[in-house]
Amino acid sequence: MESPTDALTISRRGILIASAASAAVTTMTTDATAASPNSSTPLAAPGSTPQARVTLEVNSAVHTLNLDTRTTLLDALREHLHLTGTKKGCDHGQCGACTVLLDGQRINSCLTLAVMHEGSKVTTIEGLGTLQRMHPLQTAFVKHDGYQCGYCTPGQICSAVGALDEIRRGVPSHVSADITARPLLSPDELRERMSGNLCRCGAYSNIVEAITEVAGAST
Ligand code: FES
Ligand code: FES
Repeated sequence: MESPTDALTISRRGILIASAASAAVTTMTTDATAASPNSSTPLAAPGSTPQARVTLEVNSAVHTLNLDTRTTLLDALREHLHLTGTKKGCDHGQCGACTVLLDGQRINSCLTLAVMHEGSKVTTIEGLGTLQRMHPLQTAFVKHDGYQCGYCTPGQICSAVGALDEIRRGVPSHVSADITARPLLSPDELRERMSGNLCRCGAYSNIVEAITEVAGAST
């Protein structure tokens, strides 16, 4: 007669065998996917990091990069293209310091992988204006003293470009009273739309003044 201890042993053996079989099937499936000639999965030698080639148009210049597939768009810009105007604050999508424009829309570049954006157009703060010919928002930030340390400023300005474009296109926000009407250019609307961009120096009122001036001039 089988003792409770034997039953437990068999049960454990059964689980281990099932787990091993499951792992073998998973490994076979993964290998088959990697070996498939039609698969778009990047191939990588055992033990090496998976690499992929990605082409991005950044500030009107085309770049083809060989990247570890885990590289964020932020690290591709900063570490591979040396465009250090885009800042890394939290690296977790919470501060907005890494905001850039991706195909015209603002995005936290720390939260997206570069390989997801093959062929996309990226605009960073370096592509918005130059010292000789600044973007109107850059000029307004200087005029209204919209920064202190300046660390958040590139993200603030790129985000403001996106926010004003959203208003122009009639995209409502959480504080829009009527989501079918054209959004107002009120300080509340601007504050809400810029709420993903933190400023540790607390230059918020000056930032809103700068954006309001440009918004009033261009919408
Ligand atoms: Fe991307 Fe903070 S660095 S949101
Ligand atoms: Fe210093 Fe915004 S100006 S964090």
